[in-house]
Parts: sequence; structure tokens; C-alpha cells
Amino acid sequence: MNTVLQTKGLCKTYIVNKRQNNVLKNIDLTIGEGEMVAVMGPSGSGKSTLLYCVSGMDRVTSGEVTFNGKDTTKLREKELAKLRLDEMGFIFQQMYMMKNLSVLDNIILPAVKSKKNSESRRQTEERGRALMHRLGIDDVGGNDINEVSGGQLQRACIARSMINSPKMIFADEPTGALNRASSDEVMNELLSLNRDGTTVMCVTHDPKVAAKCSRVLYLVDGKIVGEKEMGSFDGGDKELRDRERTLNNWLMEQGW
Ligand SMILES: Nc1ncnc2c1ncn2[C@@H]1O[C@H](COP(=O)(O)OP(=O)(O)O)[C@@H](O)[C@H]1O
Ligand SMILES: [Mg+2]
Repeated sequence: MNTVLQTKGLCKTYIVNKRQNNVLKNIDLTIGEGEMVAVMGPSGSGKSTLLYCVSGMDRVTSGEVTFNGKDTTKLREKELAKLRLDEMGFIFQQMYMMKNLSVLDNIILPAVKSKKNSESRRQTEERGRALMHRLGIDDVGGNDINEVSGGQLQRACIARSMINSPKMIFADEPTGALNRASSDEVMNELLSLNRDGTTVMCVTHDPKVAAKCSRVLYLVDGKIVGEKEMGSFDGGDKELRDRERTLNNWLMEQGW
């Protein structure tokens, strides 16, 4: 398995009011191509910070982060922004979209901005529409972003995260603001992307979400204290229930 992402001795310290907060402490993490990794742990344990540091959205305090063979801690801001745009996709709990653009225009924005992309505007729009079709949101392309439901908006965010065919998708509580049905839909879309070869790292507090992932990391106080290899999930309600049970037992052992 090729390595997509690797950290060595990753530390992140915030200084607030002259007080030092060591949020990530010596994280060594390797994620292989095609993995779907869930990150769990108590609130404040550093899950989001980890996701931001490994995806180059935030700078590390010390340590190495290698993405696709490149040490991203050595990259300048501009190169990092290009790497994020071309090779990474992002999905957040708060569904950030541009208010003055339609849903479709939001989805294709990363492609329009990417210098790697040599398509015409029409070709890009066609790809955007195809993605919307795949995600079951054909009807809302022309809508304003406040004219769609939460589940639709999150699926639009997934479409946007895919538009540049990223190597890896980083999701921070992507289902956190959704009801069970929408959450399942969103997870099934992420799973299907993953089956097509996209590596996924997903922060979640929902064991039902994590049960669909191939590996679960458990973070406490800035350290990875537990790791559960689950194997990839390929459908089936019974298998899912078994996985949920296994994971819940393991989470209890972790002090969840
Ligand atoms: N931008 C920031 N500035 C200062 N402290 C921060 C910042 N972001 C996060 N923290 C602190 O880092 C710790 C971990 O936060 P976070 O990564 O958001 O945890 P989690 O996602 O696991 O809930 C918390 O103590 C939080 O207050
Ligand atoms: Mg968080």
C-alpha cells in the first residue's frame, strides 16, 4: 500500500494569554492510499487541530508532515495553497459556501481557481452537474445556498470537495449538523468515493459513522492512545451492526 500521508513527531502548541497549550504531542501517523480513517476522541482532544495540521490548513509547531511524498511543512504558503486546491478536498461540519454564488457555482469554484485545470467553463460545469447527479442533487444547481436543505448542502460540499479529483479528502465532523438519514447518505457518498480510490480522513464523534471506516484512531489529550483496524466495509446491514458492536466495545475500553 502506498503511503499518502505521514507525520513524524508532529507537535502543535498554541499560546493564548502567554500560556502554552500543547495540543498535539508527538503524533506519528501513517495513512495509506485507499484507507478511510476515522479520528475519534473527547471534545478538545485535538482532533480538528490534527486534521488542520496534516492537511496544511494550519502550520505545525514541530515535526514532519509528508503528503504524497512532499514535506508540506517546508512549503511556502502559495505552494501549500496550490497543493490543497489540487490534491486535497475538504468537508466541514459548518457547510461553508459562498453566499453570492449558486450551488453549482460553489461546487465548481475549486476547479475554476485551479491552474491545473485546462477545461472550458462549460466542461467544468458539465462535470459539476455530473457530480450533482451522482450525489442526487440534480435539481438544486441553480439555487442559492440558502434554498437547499442541510443534507443537500452537505452533499454539495462533497461534490465541491471532489471537483478537482483529490488524492485525499479531509472531513471534520461532516455529519455533525445532520439528522440520521442525511448523515447516512453523506457517509455512503464518502464510502463510495473511498471505494473509487480516494483516501479519506474523517473526524467524527458518531460511532455509526466511524463503523464504516477502515481504521479508527482514538485521540486523548493530543496523543493517539488507541487504534483499531476494522478492514474496509463493503455494505450489508448485518456487517454494519457487527462493526458497530465491535467498535462500541472498543470505544468503551478507550474510556469513551
Ligand atoms: N486557533 C486556536 N487557538 C488557540 N487554541 C486553539 C485553537 N484551536 C484549537 N485550540 C485549542 O486546542 C485544543 C484542541 O482543540 P480541537 O482540535 O478543536 O479539539 P477537538 O476537535 O478534538 O474538539 C483545545 O484546547 C482548543 O481550545
Ligand atoms: Mg473539532
